[in-house]
Amino acid sequence: MENAATLLPRIGEKAPAFKAVTTQGDISFPDQFAGSWVILFSHPADFTPVCTSEFMTFAHLQGKFDALNCKLVGLSVDGLYSHIAWLRTIRDKIEYRGMKNIEVTFPLIEDITMEVAKAYGMIQPGESNTKAVRAVFVIDPKGVIRTIIYYPLSLGRNFDELLRVVQALKTADEFGVATPADWRPGDEVIVPTAGSCGVAKERMDDKGITCHDWFFCTKKLDKDKVLGAINK
Ligand code: BEZ
Repeated sequence: MENAATLLPRIGEKAPAFKAVTTQGDISFPDQFAGSWVILFSHPADFTPVCTSEFMTFAHLQGKFDALNCKLVGLSVDGLYSHIAWLRTIRDKIEYRGMKNIEVTFPLIEDITMEVAKAYGMIQPGESNTKAVRAVFVIDPKGVIRTIIYYPLSLGRNFDELLRVVQALKTADEFGVATPADWRPGDEVIVPTAGSCGVAKERMDDKGITCHDWFFCTKKLDKDKVLGAINK
């Protein structure tokens, strides 16, 4: 049964607003990030191995997220001094999969009261009462939640997928299309399903569009055109 405590933010809704202390100073979310895409993500705890591998990977890929105009914001229920000490340890001591001296420059929120974690459904008691699960909220430049992914404590995220999600959402917005299974820039995109028989017939007759049936039409979208449109 749903009540106020279990209501989670949903795709298509405004990201819940909050103010927080972070490793990069105070932030006001999401208004401070208006005009940019944002990945707001939680991790269970500082000084843990899966989280360390994820932070190193996020920071290593920062340039690719920057190119997509996508900011990163992390969160755990640890305090600020723990965050600072952990990120310093990562920078000074950890070498992993060819990554070393990794400086995490995106903000990491301290949430010892769990206020933000609870507002975003990051505390999932079946998994843990005291740690956030690995949540990912992809938020658009208007502050609207566009994708939500939750992973359990033991499962490190797939960063190719996180990049692909932002690429696909931006492509859908820019070109008015949808993206099929496993889509990558340069692959065919889905033309929105026709709303009338007339439009469906036009689509079937259009040489630039391949229709597998009246409801399932695709077209090519040049990779450079896609990358040019989304990397800005
Ligand atoms: C980890 O990051 O390694 C981890 C954190 C909490 C529970 C299990 C694993």
